[in-house]
Amino acid sequence: MIDIHSHILSETDDGAVSLEDSLKIIQEAIEAGFTKIISTSHYYEGRFEKDEYFRKEKINNLRNMTGNFDLRIGSEIFATPDIIELLKEKKASSIDNTRYVLFEIPFGNNVSFFNKMIDDLKRNNYLPIMAHPERYEIVKNNPKLVEEWKHRGIYMQSNFESITGKYGKESEETVKLLLRHKLVDFLGSDVHRVGTYEKVSIAIDKIRKMVDERYFIELTQMNQEKLLRNEKIEVEDQEEIKKTIFGGYK
Ligand SMILES: [Fe+2]
Repeated sequence: MIDIHSHILSETDDGAVSLEDSLKIIQEAIEAGFTKIISTSHYYEGRFEKDEYFRKEKINNLRNMTGNFDLRIGSEIFATPDIIELLKEKKASSIDNTRYVLFEIPFGNNVSFFNKMIDDLKRNNYLPIMAHPERYEIVKNNPKLVEEWKHRGIYMQSNFESITGKYGKESEETVKLLLRHKLVDFLGSDVHRVGTYEKVSIAIDKIRKMVDERYFIELTQMNQEKLLRNEKIEVEDQEEIKKTIFGGYK
């Protein structure tokens, strides 16, 4: 498996606290069955602003200290109208310098410039990936938004541990709905701390019981491989999410 979402570098964001932690996390990832990790430190203007040069040094150091464990560069960019500038100036990074860009939006509210940001990314030939849609209020309230976004060419990355209730019952139900409709393209750990991968393994068992094996491999390995080859991932149309008479979704 290839982990597409991690906060593994120390002194970069709110992830790993020390070099020792980074090394421990990598060890735990290997034990959980991951062969590659994409480092997606937060790039959050005004808060976490370590540029590509700084992060590359950290990654090279970790590679050296782990017998060349396959660690790649990336960012999780907090939605901003400046996203293209950040990428062009190598402040934030696309994933492994491919066309794929991981971004997040605020948990609680809408982003007024969202449509423009997506258009800007697409116009500049980037392929946007939204981090953990199941964690946002607007998605929990209306999961059909994900269908709309996917039609606009946005890929979806869900967190493994959403299914075990780490982010609450609503996120758990939402990720199950998204998985049932095959609206998720990638699964990632979003690891920040030592001890996470053990819980990821529990989540993996649960997900495997829910989705067919082929889809599971797409979510954890195949789509990540295509991404790292900078190939465009084709998305198939899925059965629509329907509103139930009780006001829920199925
Ligand atoms: Fe994250």
